[in-house]
Amino acid sequence: MSGPDLRRAAAARALDLVEPGMRLGLGTGSTAAAFVDLLGARVRDGLDVVGVPTSEATHRQAEGLGIRLARLDEVPHLDLTIDGADEVDDHLRLIKGGGAALLREKIVACASDRMVVIADAAKRVATLGAFPLPIEVNLFGLAATRLAVEAAVAAAGCQGPVDLRLGKDGKPVMTDGGHAILDARLGTIPDPERLGAALWSVPGVVEHGLFLGIATAAILAADVGGRAEVTVLGRLV
Ligand code: 5RP
Repeated sequence: MSGPDLRRAAAARALDLVEPGMRLGLGTGSTAAAFVDLLGARVRDGLDVVGVPTSEATHRQAEGLGIRLARLDEVPHLDLTIDGADEVDDHLRLIKGGGAALLREKIVACASDRMVVIADAAKRVATLGAFPLPIEVNLFGLAATRLAVEAAVAAAGCQGPVDLRLGKDGKPVMTDGGHAILDARLGTIPDPERLGAALWSVPGVVEHGLFLGIATAAILAADVGGRAEVTVLGRLV
């Protein structure tokens, strides 16, 4: 099975969690987009929910599908957020932000009773860190913030370069909130809580992509003999 098939299988299982009248956080990325597509089909069939998108891209997609949308300021408490992840470990700790939406994703997830991750099972890891850790930073004093992030990373027992994320045009990638992204290429993160706390101590860091104690479940789809087999970590309800 292809990656899109697996993403769709995980998204379809997550759709079973959606009930009429729910206030839903809508994640960002290709797996979350598969969920939004399926949700749009249900809405066309009459399901009434309200969605709070975590990015401008998801907003455009959901709007195009006719999903009723609200800003988090209008609906500040959500029932359920469905989102993808770049890595997930067996304690439901995540790396997110590959799509540069980590700040809004974390705000929306933390405003939700439940955050359910949907992903290709290849995203499941024993130890976080093979995926570069995204760190959203203010543009003011970027060079100084980067040095301080490097020091925080080392103090947390991690090693590896911290690079400014550039787009295909060679310019710094900008988030929806107008910030830059640093990617910390650490290989392994032995103590994610320690690293998260160290990054928080750096002025200029707006948010980091470690989601710790936020996800309540993960739906992971793997190819087993040509069909999608879904594994659930955590509690879906
Ligand atoms: C965006 C994210 C995405 O959820 C993450 O990058 C996974 O994306 P995909 O489903 O395309 O693999 O954190 O900021």
